[in-house]
Amino acid sequence: MAPVGGVAGSSRSAACCAVLLAAVLFFSAPATTEAYDSLDPNGNITIKWDIISWTPDGYVATVTMFNYQQFRHIPAPGWQLGCSWAKKEVIWSMVGAQATEQGDCSKFKSAPPHCCKRDPTIVDLLPGTPFNQQIANCCKAGVIKTFNQDPGNAASSFQISVGLAGTTNKAVKMPKNFTLRAPGPGYTCGRALVGRPTKYYSDGRRVTQALMSWNVTCTYSQFLAQKTPTCCVSLSSFYNDTIVNCPTCSCGCQNNITRPGSCVNDNSPYLQSAINGPGKLTGQPLVQCTSHMCPIRIHWHVKLNYKDYWRVKVTITNFNYRMNYTDWNMVAQHPNFDNITKLFSFNYKPLTPYGGRINDTAMFWGMKFYNDLLNQAGPLGNAQSELLMRKDSETFTFQKGWAFPRRVYFNGDNCVMPSPDDYPWLPSASPLTKQPWTLPLLVFWTVLSTLLAYYV
Ligand SMILES: *[C@@H]1O[C@H](CO)[C@@H](O)[C@H](O)[C@H]1NC(C)=O
Ligand SMILES: *[C@@H]1O[C@H](CO)[C@@H](O)[C@H](O)[C@H]1NC(C)=O
Ligand SMILES: *[C@@H]1O[C@H](CO)[C@@H](O)[C@H](O)[C@H]1NC(C)=O
Ligand SMILES: *[C@@H]1O[C@H](CO)[C@@H](O)[C@H](O)[C@H]1NC(C)=O
Ligand SMILES: *[C@@H]1O[C@H](CO)[C@@H](O)[C@H](O)[C@H]1NC(C)=O
Ligand SMILES: *[C@@H]1O[C@H](CO)[C@@H](O)[C@H](O)[C@H]1NC(C)=O
Ligand SMILES: *[C@@H]1O[C@H](CO)[C@@H](O)[C@H](O)[C@H]1NC(C)=O
Ligand SMILES: *[C@@H]1O[C@H](CO)[C@@H](O)[C@H](O)[C@H]1NC(C)=O
Repeated sequence: MAPVGGVAGSSRSAACCAVLLAAVLFFSAPATTEAYDSLDPNGNITIKWDIISWTPDGYVATVTMFNYQQFRHIPAPGWQLGCSWAKKEVIWSMVGAQATEQGDCSKFKSAPPHCCKRDPTIVDLLPGTPFNQQIANCCKAGVIKTFNQDPGNAASSFQISVGLAGTTNKAVKMPKNFTLRAPGPGYTCGRALVGRPTKYYSDGRRVTQALMSWNVTCTYSQFLAQKTPTCCVSLSSFYNDTIVNCPTCSCGCQNNITRPGSCVNDNSPYLQSAINGPGKLTGQPLVQCTSHMCPIRIHWHVKLNYKDYWRVKVTITNFNYRMNYTDWNMVAQHPNFDNITKLFSFNYKPLTPYGGRINDTAMFWGMKFYNDLLNQAGPLGNAQSELLMRKDSETFTFQKGWAFPRRVYFNGDNCVMPSPDDYPWLPSASPLTKQPWTLPLLVFWTVLSTLLAYYV
């Protein structure tokens, strides 16, 4: 495992260049080789196993998955945790979760175990599970929220009774090859590492501790997830009538010949039957026919210009007839996010992915019982907010598309942005400044401004 340590060490020594790199990365295609997310570099899901008691042939462990990602949650239909036993272990019983398959338990004469597979897959139980099969933090159908939005639901737990496993710290072997589907691919899990035993503070007067604890860290990569984009960005401003649409075919192309039924029109008589069609059970999106074909569009409108402030209106529109997005979130990056003065009808948290040196990224999400649920496509399928930002005279400008976001995520997925060449221009721009906004110039400008932000 030496190479892994080596990579970690060199990446630390290169941390100073990461800021520069991030500025350049922004211009590379979203799903190239991003091994980690530059807006959430420490984001991970940590799975902790705490052995809480020994049994005649093994142990009982409490397993908890913590979502340590700023803005990526695990939506329905929830997580699936897989691993391979190191020896011939079996699962005698589980509380708060279950193995998807029992496997071959024919060797057991009486009372067969819950699961005899060498590589079990475990899923959460559903809400409404009988109380005697529940433990704290279980039974949420595998849905895990983000700490930022809902700290009380950012973890998921179950209890597992493992047999044929050894009954001392030395004899127990940690499972191998952890996999996490949440719900699709995208996560890679490391090896299990033995750590300090977890401590439990019961009533403030006594501390108990696990007999043995280990944890596994899983990280997400959009590259591994290999998803087609799920959202796109459109732009407009008060100073130019042009509305810059999402790029055509951002999330797929309308093609009635090769992909019949890939989308439906809002007024189509077949809308209802299409919603209940074959893709319903798998949760496959059914989108309204648009040129971009994305389930989600985020529109950024530069609305007003005051002397000291400027105002942006953000509209999130759902084009998916098969999805109500519960606890959605949006992340955007803009240099003026260091000075958001007022925000209407969304919750907001500044994210500082570069250790607080650059404060240009913010996470937004809906207000409870007001717009935390983004309704399925249709008249109610949108959420809106306005942002008031204080101008910094040194950086503020309407020139060259400065007022538009640098990148936007919806539910952790990178949204497709229009090409900077298409951004609405200031009408006053002389033919000279109207020259196409070439990529090298853009990179140079961003690197320069990033450098300034870093050193000033
Ligand atoms: C996982 O996230 C936690 C909480 O942010 C952090 O303390 C830990 O170092 C992370 N682990 C890895 C391997 O990045
Ligand atoms: C873990 O995965 C590797 C590669 O897929 C495989 O060679 C190995 O046998 C697996 N280990 C166990 C215990 O299943
Ligand atoms: C996981 O275990 C490693 C190794 O002991 C430890 O350094 C790390 O802090 C643990 N992480 C969590 C989130 O408990
Ligand atoms: C595909 O079919 C829909 C209606 O089913 C129609 O509105 C749309 O124009 C068609 N697209 C093409 C490219 O033919
Ligand atoms: C979304 O929620 C509405 C009620 O708010 C419900 O009528 C509709 O069936 C839901 N749609 C889906 C796809 O779950
Ligand atoms: C935000 O604006 C206020 C008022 O102009 C200014 O004092 C402050 O320095 C600004 N903050 C940042 C981080 O630029
Ligand atoms: C980042 O900007 C926000 C909004 O102005 C401010 O509330 C927050 O304190 C800033 N954070 C840091 C670390 O500068
Ligand atoms: C608005 O911006 C577009 C570029 O997206 C440009 O072609 C057009 O000339 C601008 N309109 C005015 C009135 O300047």
